[in-house]
Amino acid sequence: MTHPFLFRRDGVRPLLLDAFCCQGGAAAGYAAAGFDVVGVDIAPQSRYPYRFIQAEAVAFIRAHGARFDFIHASPPCQHDSECQRIQGNPHPDLIAPTRAALESTGRPWVIENVRGAVPKLRRPVMLCGAMYGLKTYRHRYFETSGWCLTPPGHPAHLVPQAKMGRPIPPGHYGQFVGNFSGVDHARRVLQVPWMNRDGIRECIPPAYTHHLGTQALTALTTRAGVAA
Ligand SMILES: C[S@@+](CC[C@H](N)C(=O)[O-])C[C@H]1O[C@@H](n2cnc3c(N)ncnc32)[C@H](O)[C@@H]1O
Repeated sequence: MTHPFLFRRDGVRPLLLDAFCCQGGAAAGYAAAGFDVVGVDIAPQSRYPYRFIQAEAVAFIRAHGARFDFIHASPPCQHDSECQRIQGNPHPDLIAPTRAALESTGRPWVIENVRGAVPKLRRPVMLCGAMYGLKTYRHRYFETSGWCLTPPGHPAHLVPQAKMGRPIPPGHYGQFVGNFSGVDHARRVLQVPWMNRDGIRECIPPAYTHHLGTQALTALTTRAGVAA
């Protein structure tokens, strides 16, 4: 599928819709890459560092997504996370409705999710904290609307991980999930100093979307140049 890779005027940053934004881990990386960011979440997000609109994201994408240059979507992953599955918690699966809404906009996009959702994602690219020198692994998977996302090399996981959500023994990396301990440490590791525990356990490290957003801008600029 082709997309009209429209760009804003010279000197104006491209506008990104951050759907299912939570406290803005993804947003911070995109902002650093050069986007202006608007976040949408169904819950109030007083810690979100950019413009925020409280709304249901799939409906918002359908109604307003075409006005944005680029759309990022992180539909809730509890449906596919192992700990939630073990606990039998029912959550709606929003990946397919989100993709359909994104495709209806004609804009370039990314859907992000966790390992449990990989069978539902189309040719996802995995990003890992070790690719960016972070002291955690936190694999996340990214499906694009067709533009090419190239991951950095994936270093071997040489540092052992603490058990999920548990205190971190010396010489280990943390897994910041559930009711994890060590919020200040997690803020430093993931580079999200404005977040509380609720945001940290959900977030994409900004380093991932800084890289991704930079690549998207290059791809979009190239495509715009080809079309011109
Ligand atoms: C995995 S978190 C997103 C994390 C975010 N990308 C980040 O990097 O910090 C998913 C978010 O989706 C929100 N959410 C769940 N269902 C929603 C819906 N139907 N519309 C909008 N937001 C929704 C939740 O409130 C939660 O904040």
